[in-house]
Amino acid sequence: MDFETLRQECLTCTRCSLCETRKNVVFGQGVPDAEVLFVGEGPGANEDEQGLPFVGRSGQLLDHYLAAIDLDRGKNVFIANIVKCRPPENRDPLPEESAACLPWLRQQFRLLKPKIVVCLGRIAAQQLIDPKFPIMKQHGQFFEKQGTLFMATLHPAALLRNPNNKPLAFADFAALRDKIHEVCLHTYAPGEG
Ligand code: URA
Ligand code: SF4
Repeated sequence: MDFETLRQECLTCTRCSLCETRKNVVFGQGVPDAEVLFVGEGPGANEDEQGLPFVGRSGQLLDHYLAAIDLDRGKNVFIANIVKCRPPENRDPLPEESAACLPWLRQQFRLLKPKIVVCLGRIAAQQLIDPKFPIMKQHGQFFEKQGTLFMATLHPAALLRNPNNKPLAFADFAALRDKIHEVCLHTYAPGEG
């Protein structure tokens, strides 16, 4: 199984009822040898239209934070979501929807073998780190699970609603940059990986 085969399978998924209202499955975007995997919550309206993750206003902010530490979805990271189809009215994914969709993310994880997983916001952190993860208390901290480092930062959409928290997210990205220097081999040396 390679990434393209997985993508093709995922694009026709009907494992949960979100398939009935989606326009496009948002499989994810990035490079297949990414050492850093970002995981958001689920597609919004723009993402649903375009079939790509984080392409609206929160995506612009995310790209800005990525660029600040020399990360780029076209060069050295992969961006995915907990659910790959848009929940109607942008509601939180239901537990059964997340459960139905998680095997796709697990397969992406198995193929990528990222060194670091960054959860964007509470929903991803509670799915991937701890069901009770207190995002405002523990964002920016690294947790090791079976050889992979996990950290969570504030969701870019939350930063747009509450710009006072931007310095907190910026500090998380600075910590991420340091951790990448410590544990990643080729993230900052494109072409050599
Ligand atoms: N918010 C998310 O969590 N994911 C996206 O892809 C876009 C916005
Ligand atoms: Fe399949 Fe996930 Fe879309 Fe549900 S959200 S239909 S499980 S791809």
